[in-house]
Amino acid sequence: MILVTGGAGFIGSNFVLDWLESGDEPVLNLDALTYAGNLRNLESLRGDARHVFVHGDICDRALLARLFAEHRPRAVVHFAAESHVDRSIHGPGAFVRTNVEGTFALLEAARAHWNTLEGEAKAAFRFHHVSTDEVYGSLGPADAPFSETHPYQPNSPYSASKAASDHLVRAWHHTYGLPVVTSNCSNNYGPYHFPEKLIPLVIVNALAGRPLPIYGDGLNVRDWLYVRDHCSAVRAVLGCGRPGETYNIGGWNEKTNIEIVRTICALLDELRPDPAGSHARLITFVTDRPGHDRRYAIDARKIERELGWRPAETFDSGIRKTVQWYLENAAWVAEVQSGAYRDWVATNYDARREAAR
Ligand code: NAD
Ligand code: DAU
Repeated sequence: MILVTGGAGFIGSNFVLDWLESGDEPVLNLDALTYAGNLRNLESLRGDARHVFVHGDICDRALLARLFAEHRPRAVVHFAAESHVDRSIHGPGAFVRTNVEGTFALLEAARAHWNTLEGEAKAAFRFHHVSTDEVYGSLGPADAPFSETHPYQPNSPYSASKAASDHLVRAWHHTYGLPVVTSNCSNNYGPYHFPEKLIPLVIVNALAGRPLPIYGDGLNVRDWLYVRDHCSAVRAVLGCGRPGETYNIGGWNEKTNIEIVRTICALLDELRPDPAGSHARLITFVTDRPGHDRRYAIDARKIERELGWRPAETFDSGIRKTVQWYLENAAWVAEVQSGAYRDWVATNYDARREAAR
């Protein structure tokens, strides 16, 4: 079996579903079920013996040692992290704990397990670290997209913690020989995306007639990838990526934030018209994110050249599927907007609105 960490989060749960749709190898899913983890995402696997869920923390070394000893996974796919830049600005401590100390604990547990293996099993073992393009920092408008050799220049507590974890993973390969692969991916979107991030936040706010908050001038650029394309890329890297290598994953879909928001409004105008007028009337420019990176773009030629991976979705097809998913899953949307979610919205947006007035 494979051990997946963070498999109840947005990308992790899509990965677990995708993995078990593409084959029968069981998944041991370790997730602490923070605010971002949601077992509802995995409801379709209820009663499926191929999915073993463990509620636990990647910082818990005793638990990790027990899980490796009992289940002897042939690979680890490490998604678990604190993932939201705005939360890292309000409270960086959790990011250092999970992203740095948690990755360290997992590397040590994986290394101890790997040291018990021999021959073919030892050579075939993989530790796949799932990381982000944000470790490379910010691009100017005319700069070439991030390649795998771009210098690390993280600018937020989130990206600094992910960069630190990437460095640990690299060092565990060079020093101890642990067979690691790292992938650095651009912005994902799709089903089960928690509505603290731009795309799902805009969809759920627009449906509720609430303001659509755009930081700064709305001209920051991100490279968007449909989440199932990220899952297929991780499968490709896990299957055939070379140990010690990193692979950049992206959608070749650079868009400004304002373009994204206008596209979502137009789709909602078509699929769920609002008698009060176009959803675009709700667009509200608010105070910028501190240290806001201007542009991310991924050069995904290495993964295409070496592993033959390319995204299957265009932005138009992926965003339409995504908006439709949110329209068809109103119960999921209502449930995730619980009391704790409302507290976060107040923390992140109330001061912004005041400053923008
Ligand atoms: P997410 O916040 O939706 O999910 C994170 C999951 O990790 C949750 O299920 C949470 O409960 C779990 N978790 C958090 N702390 C834990 C701990 N200490 N022990 C065990 N589980 C813990 O995140 P996501 O958007 O699905 O991102 C997954 C990974 O992909 C992260 O490593 C992130 O850095 C990376 N990534 C995300 C994106 C993106 O656009 N979302 C892009 C590139 C890379
Ligand atoms: O690039 C990969 C990264 O993408 C991942 O590593 C992160 O885990 C993931 O959260 C994402 O980070 P971003 O900061 O780019 O995503 P977010 O959805 O938070 O913001 C996207 C853009 O939209 C960014 O320029 C900030 C802006 N924004 C965001 C929110 C939440 C707004 O204008 N308004 C908002 O309310």
